[in-house]
Order: sequence, then structure tokens, then C-alpha cells
Amino acid sequence: MEGIPIRSARRGDIPSLLLLWDAMMREFVDADPRFEVHPDARAHMAASFAVWLQEPGRTVVVAEEAGRMIVGFATGVVLPGNGWQVPERLGRISDVYVAAPRRRKGIARRLAGRLLDLLYEEGVETVRLAAAVENPGARAFWNAVGWSELEVVLERPVPDPTPKV
Ligand SMILES: CC(C)(COP(=O)(O)OP(=O)(O)OC[C@H]1O[C@@H](n2cnc3c(N)ncnc32)[C@H](O)[C@@H]1OP(=O)(O)O)[C@@H](O)C(=O)NCCC(=O)NCCS
Repeated sequence: MEGIPIRSARRGDIPSLLLLWDAMMREFVDADPRFEVHPDARAHMAASFAVWLQEPGRTVVVAEEAGRMIVGFATGVVLPGNGWQVPERLGRISDVYVAAPRRRKGIARRLAGRLLDLLYEEGVETVRLAAAVENPGARAFWNAVGWSELEVVLERPVPDPTPKV
């Protein structure tokens, strides 16, 4: 598995990307049902991948095993700063996923490394991502490759029925 090729995604990869994205979302929902997926999510993602593959500032990379099978992917985007904090150009990693049977072989490390190189080429000043609290594997991975926690997102669902204040 050493040196599995990482390359930019192509249009023909979209069916494989969708399969991996489905598997990723199933894992997220199993770990925390609050990440329940919208019924139209697959169609939405199919359209999103098609746009991302040609949109400036978007990056999608894949790990291709034996020259034909996509076993992992990573996506990122360049965003403007918010205007009140220092970074004027931010990179955001939106997804990194490796098929379960191919884990702990360094594939995510290589995917993230390539994605970061491409984001750095776009002139980003920092790169951020969100990892679920109930995803200790992801948090361990990001810590292992040099990331540190910045903020915690809190959520409180609206009570049903909505109380009168
Ligand atoms: C998180 C994920 C991308 C890691 O992929 P991977 O290819 O197995 O990661 P790597 O093999 O490159 O791991 C590099 C290092 O990260 C750490 N690491 C990775 N997964 C880990 C885990 N589950 N538990 C503890 N440490 C882990 C280890 O230090 C590892 O080095 P080692 O195997 O030599 O000990 C993969 O488990 C995955 O796809 N998970 C589901 C999707 C997900 O959570 N994505 C991230 C969203 S923020």
C-alpha cells in the first residue's frame, strides 16, 4: 500500500465518490444520529461533485488502488476571510474518507498532504476543518498529523412543542 497514487478527481470518478460519500455518511450517522442525512442528499452530492471538479478554488483528490479502484477521497475549498479576523484567505477541508478495509495504511495522511499542497498553492493563510465529537478516530488522525482544536460547536435542538418565552 506504500505510495498508493493520489490524483485529482475526474468526472468519471463521481460514481465511486458517491459510493464512498454514502459509506462515510452512514458511519457518521451510526456514530451520532444528529447527522441524519436529508433524503435528497445523494442527488445533491452528485451535483456538488460535478460542480466542484470544475470550480476554481475547489479541490477533490482521490486515492486510486491498482490503477482502477478509488479507496479514499478528500475535498477542500478556498474561502475568503470573515473580514474581522486576520486570515484573508482560508482553506477548509470538508471531507477526508478512506474505505474501512484500507485504513491505517497511511492513505488519509497522503490524501490530506496532497490536498494541503493544493490549498497552499492557492495562497491560503491557514486551513480549518470540523470533526465530530463522537468521532474519536478522526480526531486521533488529525492530532497525529499535527492539527489542534480551535473551537467547539454546540447544538441544542428546538424543543417540541416550542416553549412560549
Ligand atoms: C479518519 C480516517 C480518514 C483515517 O484514515 P487512515 O487512512 O486510516 O489514516 P492513516 O493511516 O493515514 O493514519 C495516520 C495516523 O493517524 C492516526 N490514526 C488514524 N486513524 C486512527 C484511529 N482510528 N485511531 C487512532 N489513531 C488513528 C495514527 O497515528 C495513524 O498512524 P499509524 O497507523 O502509523 O498509527 C479514516 O478512519 C476514515 O475515513 N474515517 C471515517 C471518515 C472520517 O471520520 N473522516 C474524517 C472527518 S473529519
